[in-house]
Amino acid sequence: ANGGTTVEDNHLQELLLTLPRDKNMDGAPLYLYKGEWFPDYTLSAAISFQKHFTAHDTDVIVASMPKSGTTWLKALTFSVVNRNLYSPKESPLLTSLPHDLVRFFETDLYLEDKNPNLDNFPAPRIFGTHTHYPSLPQSIKDSRCKIVYICRNPLDQAVSDFLFSLKYINRKNLDPVSSIDEGFENLCRGVQMFGPIWDSVLGYWKASLERPEKVMFLKYEDLKEDVIFNLKRLAEFLGIPFTQEEEKQGVIEEIERLCSFENLKSLEVNNTGVRTHSGAPHSAFFRKGEVGDWANHLTPAMAERFRIVMEAKLAGSGLSF
Ligand code: A3P
Repeated sequence: ANGGTTVEDNHLQELLLTLPRDKNMDGAPLYLYKGEWFPDYTLSAAISFQKHFTAHDTDVIVASMPKSGTTWLKALTFSVVNRNLYSPKESPLLTSLPHDLVRFFETDLYLEDKNPNLDNFPAPRIFGTHTHYPSLPQSIKDSRCKIVYICRNPLDQAVSDFLFSLKYINRKNLDPVSSIDEGFENLCRGVQMFGPIWDSVLGYWKASLERPEKVMFLKYEDLKEDVIFNLKRLAEFLGIPFTQEEEKQGVIEEIERLCSFENLKSLEVNNTGVRTHSGAPHSAFFRKGEVGDWANHLTPAMAERFRIVMEAKLAGSGLSF
């Protein structure tokens, strides 16, 4: 933030020379840092976050692989946490992209400032992250803050990611992969922004088994199947269960409706505007919102190949898709 070249910048330049490099599906350069593929423009922010972030006991962290339902989970979490501040008719979600209300560490906060002052955020603070569980700052693990993780059928995640990347990420001076086939080769090796997906998923899965009071693990498909049930689970997990009175008043249903794909997609704010750093239009976060759309984009052979890779990686974990 101070303009000049700092010791930290020099370290980063040296570090970059030593890290494995590859390409995301949109052609964006990726660096492998502590086992995770970071887009080049997020790496220094990701490192600053890992080094400097200090968690508060009241924090809530929404964690995910991109394109797994992050936007939805941010909206739901924001609504549950702030339900006593705003009635659904005056929710900030009606006039702000969920990512502007719950900001990411790597692609917003630590990108704008190497060591942002986050202490003045009103409690409870809610943040988003794509960093894998083992690399989270120790203070997140040591504090009493809560982590909610969402994942999604990896084939749907891959297709959503591919269509998003190819169409929307600022690709100036990049040489994008030419087709989903080429991107698919990388995917099968786990080379994808914030991948490998199996490491993202497994890190949070194991943490949720070891520390169920700390990490809540959600699947996009389960959430779609029963939003109400999972909203109750979420509120309980966060230590703010819905009261009988709230249930009677239909508060849970109102949150479900407010955060539904159809409602969010229809809002003016989500049809206008562009994300500052990635250049993605807000509308890019609301494409189709369906389960199983991969079948319209991947051949059965590709799906089979990826499924075999995933199954091998998840073997013995008790987790499957
Ligand atoms: P599709 O590309 O399959 O439509 P993320 O929020 O992690 O970037 O994930 C984006 C995916 O979630 C997109 O999937 C998007 O359409 C879907 N999505 C966004 N908002 C949603 C909502 N409120 N309910 C269900 N799905 C949603």
